[in-house]
Amino acid sequence: MYVETWCFASKKAIFNQVRKANLPQRDQPKMLKGCKTDSLIAALHAKEDKNDPSFWSFKRATQRKGAHALLHYPAMMVPSLQGLIMKCVQESQPDVGTVLDPFVGSGTVLVEAMGHGLDFHGVDINPLAGLACLAKSGPYYIDAFEDKSMDLLVAISSDKKKHTARQFSGRDKWHDPEAIPALEKISHHISNEPAKWARRLFWLALCRVIRTTCKSRKSTYKLHIEEVKENAKTPDVYAEFIKVIEIFQDHIAHEHQSLTAKNLLNRGRYIGTLDMRVGDNQSLLNDSDAATAVYDLVMTSPPYGDNVTTIPYGQFSYLPLQWIDVQDIDERVDLALIANTHSTDSASLGGKLKGASEKADSLGDRYRSASHFLGLLKNQTNGRKRFASFFYDLDKSIDGIAKATKANGIHAWTIANRRICGLEAPMVPMMIEMLEAHGVHTIGDISRGIHFKKMAARNALAATMTSETILLARKDSATQ
Ligand SMILES: C[S@@+](CC[C@H](N)C(=O)[O-])C[C@H]1O[C@@H](n2cnc3c(N)ncnc32)[C@H](O)[C@@H]1O
Repeated sequence: MYVETWCFASKKAIFNQVRKANLPQRDQPKMLKGCKTDSLIAALHAKEDKNDPSFWSFKRATQRKGAHALLHYPAMMVPSLQGLIMKCVQESQPDVGTVLDPFVGSGTVLVEAMGHGLDFHGVDINPLAGLACLAKSGPYYIDAFEDKSMDLLVAISSDKKKHTARQFSGRDKWHDPEAIPALEKISHHISNEPAKWARRLFWLALCRVIRTTCKSRKSTYKLHIEEVKENAKTPDVYAEFIKVIEIFQDHIAHEHQSLTAKNLLNRGRYIGTLDMRVGDNQSLLNDSDAATAVYDLVMTSPPYGDNVTTIPYGQFSYLPLQWIDVQDIDERVDLALIANTHSTDSASLGGKLKGASEKADSLGDRYRSASHFLGLLKNQTNGRKRFASFFYDLDKSIDGIAKATKANGIHAWTIANRRICGLEAPMVPMMIEMLEAHGVHTIGDISRGIHFKKMAARNALAATMTSETILLARKDSATQ
């Protein structure tokens, strides 16, 4: 049943969310619910096809095109759905100018913000996410990219020298012996390209090749040695690289065309402000951002839980990052993040279990849903630690994000519930309570089915996550 009391998340709304989290996902209505007097909810209602109960599932979303298609990253958002919400935010609040995604990942919100003519700021702890976002930010020099690609491929194919291959932990375990010299040669010639914007695109292309040619199983984001099939061919790294470069040329031309049609490019450069920072958003959304409350719209999807037991973004990115010049992403990238296969994951939300009991006490004191869930986990020491560490960190992130949001600014959080020790973790009720505590009040939600198409998503974790919620909220008008 739809609850009319969404404005300023009443206790009843929170209770209903706790109850909803424990219903079988299939039974839940997948519709927009919310405070109809709020201008954003009204704008979203106006777009909804009332005759189509699966409207918000976005089953009709077509294949990724343009910049959205440059990298396949775990748990990407549906671009057209986020785009529709962004459009409704603009319609209901025409002065919206600046968007923040503090867990930006591959940059779905970045590309949508560009398509809507908005300024954008992104943060992610994973350097691969930083690279993807910077490559997607442009400039879009179509002819120059074709020329530079041609020069690069010619340089690679005419180079008969043997380059000293770089050393890193696990290199010979994860790469075929014939692939290593080819990866090194490609990497060497990308480093020689003088333009940083082109190098970033080439590095991203190489990252894709590393993922497809390495010896890790493609059906999981974790690093797991793939079983060698009889008569399996040695991966042809050069052929793969050429293929990806051609794909990139098409996608970049598509994005260029789309942005040009909207008058959003000036000589190939996006006309708005784009800013990408690599690091922990708890420290990067620093006091200066918070003091000035700069963001009109926060649109984001945090991880589902700690990276160790949910999606290991760091492991997924470890091999590609060993082969590229990381200073091309940002000279300030902390190299400790890529020191081993676990370093990014342990630096991410919930990655450190130290002090977990104190964190559990603190969460339990402040949030009813935490207290309830920790009670259910009372005999599960590890589950309690994971729950407490993740939500404690998320709460700290929300504090900085809320402070950096302008008064009356909008938040759109795409979140999914997950299981801990066989129990549904109360992600939605926790988010409602945590946002509320930081002066950001829920105005509605969209609940939708997730359609996994990629093999890598069909793992045990994905099987437990069949739906996600987009929580819509608004910051107090009185507080900054
Ligand atoms: C669900 S993914 C975001 C996917 C993105 N919306 C997209 O469409 O590609 C969550 C992201 O949060 C990042 N992350 C985890 N902990 C973080 C932290 N403390 N600070 C910044 N980013 C973090 C992960 O690296 C990951 O890229």
